[in-house]
Amino acid sequence: MSVLVTGGAGYIGSHMTYALLERGEDVVVLDNLSTGSRSLVAEKAAFVEGDVGDRDLVVRLIDEHRVDAVIHFAGSIVVPDSVSDPLTYYANNTVNSRSLIEATVQGGVGNFIFSSTATVYAGQSAEPLIETMQTGPMSPYGRSKLMTEWMLEDAARAHGLRSVVLRYFNVAGADPKGRTGQISPRATHLIKRASQAALGRIPHLDIFGTDYPTADGTGVRDYIHVSDLVSAHALALNYLRAGGESTVMNCGYGHGASVREVIAATERVTGHVLPVREGPRRAGDPPWLIAESSRIRALLGWQPEHDDLEEIVRTAWQWESRLNAS
Ligand code: UD1
Repeated sequence: MSVLVTGGAGYIGSHMTYALLERGEDVVVLDNLSTGSRSLVAEKAAFVEGDVGDRDLVVRLIDEHRVDAVIHFAGSIVVPDSVSDPLTYYANNTVNSRSLIEATVQGGVGNFIFSSTATVYAGQSAEPLIETMQTGPMSPYGRSKLMTEWMLEDAARAHGLRSVVLRYFNVAGADPKGRTGQISPRATHLIKRASQAALGRIPHLDIFGTDYPTADGTGVRDYIHVSDLVSAHALALNYLRAGGESTVMNCGYGHGASVREVIAATERVTGHVLPVREGPRRAGDPPWLIAESSRIRALLGWQPEHDDLEEIVRTAWQWESRLNAS
């Protein structure tokens, strides 16, 4: 039996692959290397370069590797890019996921874990977001993911494909063992950009919006360490294999930090004063995204181990410093 990890050469998928191998799973990684890197894929994983939208390829992999579960990370993730280029987001996220789900059903695999996003909520309130709340994405990115959630819901009813949908809040940090992290030089994530600014690799860090109705006027996000996110997937896999019903779960700590708080934490961790430039809001950004996380804690027994902004920033900075040195 093995686990098919789509997007396993990317930031989160590469962390997941290491974690699965560590617990003795066989892993096959499918990635088209459009943003990921072969160098991030653990050596013990089988690696296949290809598209998740290639249905025949996926069906073949399921058969050859006796896949019993699919963990689907592959997709496009940058909210503002989805505003300027929505059709690419619908192609990469919605259309390809449809094909992958079809291949999964056709291949007789019953367990599916999907990387969804907190941006499926409207995010217009400081209150933590609960899974039962009305969705209302502000960006094509959020909509492209929500449509995949709907397809999974329907596939569960029609074909018995059980799934855990994890709505990620803001994933950041890097493998504490230093094996993998974010590599994209044009990354847009705040915490990575802050590390790059501390290292002098970018001339300044932009603050996108200082007039939000938040305490200090900047956007607030629930930053979660990538290792805690990966442990949530491992628990979700156990849950599905034990026959758990399809469900949707938030994956965040339940408290937020503003852009200014992230900057202050980065300055403390790195000892560098960041060159900061205040500017207008970025398209598609809600003021707050904070998780209500009791469902995942109760249903999966998830207990975060890295719920500390400075630790998140420190692991991101350590990874970035190594990239800088090489
Ligand atoms: C991130 C993820 C998205 C995920 C969502 C869940 C990426 C690229 N995006 O989006 O996939 O679904 O979390 O909550 O991983 N900011 C600045 N300056 C910068 C960069 C960002 O001020 O240089 C601000 C943003 O306006 C926002 C906050 O920092 O308020 C976080 O932004 P970012 O790290 O880009 O993540 P999200 O857009 O929230």
